[in-house]
Amino acid sequence: MRQKPIIARVTQIKDKRFELFIPAPELSDKISGLAQRINQDYAGLDPLFVVVLNGAFMFAADLAKFVSIPCQFSFIRLASYQNTRSTGTLTEILGLRENIAGRHVVIVEDIVDTALTMHQLVLQLQQRQPASLQVATLLCKPEAMQKPVDLKYVGFEIANRFVVGYGLDYDGFGRNLPDLYVLGE
Ligand code: XMP
Ligand code: MG
Repeated sequence: MRQKPIIARVTQIKDKRFELFIPAPELSDKISGLAQRINQDYAGLDPLFVVVLNGAFMFAADLAKFVSIPCQFSFIRLASYQNTRSTGTLTEILGLRENIAGRHVVIVEDIVDTALTMHQLVLQLQQRQPASLQVATLLCKPEAMQKPVDLKYVGFEIANRFVVGYGLDYDGFGRNLPDLYVLGE
């Protein structure tokens, strides 16, 4: 018999202790709701989801399973974030080979923190003349935002604290956790 997964209330990653923040079933409910909105908004538009690696891989995979309209996925990797602080400079966009001109593009991101990354990414993708460009982010930290970015699909607005799990990492670790954890105070 398949057992119900046990959700740990705390987890230790390297030198830091993290506390349970958003359990997997809550993430799943929210993501299914976002996907339903996308299914309605993009019916007949064959959207292209541009997934920002590494952090968004788990969110994108779960979102994809709830999206039921014809769509495509592409993956990019940005370099800008070090350890638990944002460096604010988007150094490169790796791997977007698709021609996005005339396409309805949805960027899929794990978290918008200072929004410096997303601001840059949106500007760079706009130059490639998509038919439309929107952002789906699992998390955003409204208090940390330093740039105005229009976030159409937001899973959770959270306080300005460091989170891991469900794709997000601390120094490369913790991405495999099915639940979201927050750094202990
Ligand atoms: P900015 O500040 O440019 O940062 O909006 C966006 C990127 O920084 C990473 N990030 C985090 N990663 N826990 C993480 O594991 C966090 O609390 C966190 N805040 C920002 C993330 O990769 C995002 O794409
Ligand atoms: Mg990210």
